[in-house]
Amino acid sequence: PATAAAAPAPRAKTLPDAQTVTQVQHWTESLFSFRCTRPQSLRFRSGEFVMLGLMGDNGKPLLRAYSIASPSWDDELEFYSIKVQDGPLTSKLQHIGVGDEIILRPKPVGTLVHDALLPGKRLWLLATGTGFAPFASLTRDPETYEKYESVVVMHTCRDAADLEYGRQLIAALREDPLIGEMVEGKLQYYPTTTREETPFMGRITDNLASGKVFEDLDLAGPLTPEADRVMVCGSLGFNLDIKTLMEGWGLREGANSDPAEFVVEKAFVGE
Ligand code: A2P
Repeated sequence: PATAAAAPAPRAKTLPDAQTVTQVQHWTESLFSFRCTRPQSLRFRSGEFVMLGLMGDNGKPLLRAYSIASPSWDDELEFYSIKVQDGPLTSKLQHIGVGDEIILRPKPVGTLVHDALLPGKRLWLLATGTGFAPFASLTRDPETYEKYESVVVMHTCRDAADLEYGRQLIAALREDPLIGEMVEGKLQYYPTTTREETPFMGRITDNLASGKVFEDLDLAGPLTPEADRVMVCGSLGFNLDIKTLMEGWGLREGANSDPAEFVVEKAFVGE
């Protein structure tokens, strides 16, 4: 019967800055991604983040910073999140379903944007864990491939299952009728694990410092301030260690107001 398959009628918007969830995908016990409607007025630069959340039990919005994982041309918004079982927000947010409302403040900000980097030849996108989210946006943005001759994505997690969101996204890019041609021969993807035994292992910092990644991908190394530009998104310790490594190679940290050779942002929602 036709009615059985019909989509549920959209519910009336009740929350301030409400958006409606359109898709939810659970990747592991501690990782999920979701998509929602995009406010018509929301313009953002790929790589930026917004404040997002749910209404708390006390009637006040409970919001956290979330990198937008979808590219700026997408009709919808996508987010990639951890699930913390006793986390104030993600213990609830992990149970959202299609048709539910979330709160999204339409004020995008952030430093992982092309504007904060000087022109260069080779772009490195370096992430641990959910720090991949802003790069899910940037790797799907044609501007990334227009601006650089090559793009290298390094993503490191403890276990292989934690890499799956990124792995499928990069695979889909290569198949995409629009972006597929742009990334051909330009995009290199280097996922590694640090705990589970897999063919490619090791911390991003170690694989850069030892030169292993240059060997494995047949690239010139190390990075230079003339050719290389870097975006970094991970844990505090990771960000600090990468910063030290980059500065050792003569790259300087940039900002929107003062573009340079690398930019850093903490992967949000640690709860
Ligand atoms: P490791 O397993 O060696 O700690 P977490 O799950 O703790 O957020 O870490 C995500 C990934 O980031 C793990 O693979 C972890 O490696 C790695 N990592 C954590 N801290 C650093 C750091 N300071 N430098 C490089 N990689 C790091």
